[in-house]
Amino acid sequence: MADPLTKLAYQALQQGKSLVGVAHKEVSTKLMELVAPKGAPKTLPIPPQMLGDLQASNAALMELDWEEAEQGLYPTSLLFDAPWLDWAVRYPMVWLDMPSTWNRRSERNVTDLPTDLDSDSYPDYYLQNFHHQTDGYLSDYSASLYDLQVEILFNGTAEPMRRRVIKPLIQGLRAFADRSPSQLRVLDVATGTGRTLRQVRAALPQAQLVGLDLSAAYLRQANRWLSQLPNELPQLVQGNAETMPFASGSMQGVTCVFLMHELPAEARQAVINDCFRVLEPGGVLVLADSVQLADSPQFETAMDNFRRVFHEPYYRDYIGDDIDARLAAAGFSGIRATSHLMTRVWSATKP
Ligand SMILES: C[S@@+](CC[C@H](N)C(=O)[O-])C[C@H]1O[C@@H](n2cnc3c(N)ncnc32)[C@H](O)[C@@H]1O
Repeated sequence: MADPLTKLAYQALQQGKSLVGVAHKEVSTKLMELVAPKGAPKTLPIPPQMLGDLQASNAALMELDWEEAEQGLYPTSLLFDAPWLDWAVRYPMVWLDMPSTWNRRSERNVTDLPTDLDSDSYPDYYLQNFHHQTDGYLSDYSASLYDLQVEILFNGTAEPMRRRVIKPLIQGLRAFADRSPSQLRVLDVATGTGRTLRQVRAALPQAQLVGLDLSAAYLRQANRWLSQLPNELPQLVQGNAETMPFASGSMQGVTCVFLMHELPAEARQAVINDCFRVLEPGGVLVLADSVQLADSPQFETAMDNFRRVFHEPYYRDYIGDDIDARLAAAGFSGIRATSHLMTRVWSATKP
């Protein structure tokens, strides 16, 4: 059992991250209103009741994150895992990048992408500046800022929310308890910069882990993060999650974090279908993405503000979508879902 001091340190760290995130957003919003008022998004005021609900959900998330570490699902050290030095160095770049983001927002320019891009290699819906991100997902520069930007966006809760995939993944993999842990293959779909894979690696030290993403630049960043782990040889593949370059039935577990809300409805179903295809019967899919209107109506204003501030063209459709029905349509059974602050986690089994 970890000592109470470690728990206190974890709580203090999370509170510190939350303060930095809130302060950063306050100051940057004021600055934007001053410097680039045309681009300032018109957000709705957060009702006091919702603020209370958010604080309570945040506290519950921290408690669960701690409890699951104590239960041995992942090491307590994972709660402190972050590239602090790297983020400290990159933080000024986040500020320097803001004017170009404001500019794109005020110009309503959502296709400001690198000019040397081979656009035939990507689906149309992908060729946009999601979140008004400089270069979209298509440059090393974008990949170098992404993790820190997400940490700030979620006030330091991005990693605790990603970690919620670990428990259902481990539970699902019990279907293969007769195999040695090194025979289990787990695929992280839309792995981005590999933060989820880093969490899963801590929980499954022997499993074969594979990450897939459309962005070579984000995979290069994932390679950097994952290569820091002792003895890790990252297995990263560039490809479209709708038609993945893996054999049918070749995975025992699949995770997919924060992808669904960035896809049009047909692509969402195609990705779920392909996750089903690559899983071996008995295998588990764990999806994590934004909460939705049906499960978290109390956070409707936060969801609405999210799409007002960031370019998220499919988010409104996503929050009303029936993911359970999509999982069932793909052939999954044993569908379960839980919500943790702003993230909903589904798990489902291939019969
Ligand atoms: C919001 S990010 C999430 C990344 C990562 N899972 C995380 O938790 O930070 C969405 C990711 O999905 C990837 N992506 C979007 N559409 C894709 C597709 N059709 N196939 C594969 N990757 C895709 C993007 O390149 C990006 O890395």
